[in-house]
Amino acid sequence: MTKYVKEVLISREEIDQMCQRLGNQISHDYEGREVTLIGVLKGAYVFMADLARYLTIPCRVDFMSVSSYGSGTRSSGVVRITKDLDTDITGCDIIIVEDIVDSGLTLNHLRQLLGTRKPASIAICTAFDKPQRRKVNVKVEYIGLKIPDAFIVGYGLDYDGRYRNLPDVSILGDDGQGGSK
Ligand code: IMP
Ligand code: MG
Repeated sequence: MTKYVKEVLISREEIDQMCQRLGNQISHDYEGREVTLIGVLKGAYVFMADLARYLTIPCRVDFMSVSSYGSGTRSSGVVRITKDLDTDITGCDIIIVEDIVDSGLTLNHLRQLLGTRKPASIAICTAFDKPQRRKVNVKVEYIGLKIPDAFIVGYGLDYDGRYRNLPDVSILGDDGQGGSK
């Protein structure tokens, strides 16, 4: 079945305010320190670029790639690392940057895994959160916006690899519900 972009849920302006708020909060909490932002590819690439530019503290960036979804809209529960970090994070203040927390399985796994590498501290920052769908209780220090249980696309989030480039966040609907492709 073809999927259609149904309605805009979060506008570009709201997203920008959210990034500014998170950037201010993190800059305040880590004042006098340097943070290492770890983006979870591919979804976090857009958010991380915006967030990083709202930080007023020194920062480094690195990326990891994990795979927990096939081409559908539900988590398989299996988290596989497909690209590891390029840098050593021992002794670093790291912030894992995610696009969205859904079941929590991905971040729960990443938090445990990166913890074994002895960073000075670990925090998680997510753009979006779907608390209703949580399967594991993972601590998320910085949350942009909580959203209802709907599948969203845009602003880095995809369906089957598409729609990541949409500047705002939209709900994905099924074919025939009157949306535009
Ligand atoms: P979790 O392991 O179930 O928390 O899934 C997290 C990952 O699933 C995110 O990093 C996204 O890649 C993907 N995901 C979860 N919900 C959505 C959504 O509504 N739209 C697009 N991707 C999603
Ligand atoms: Mg992701």
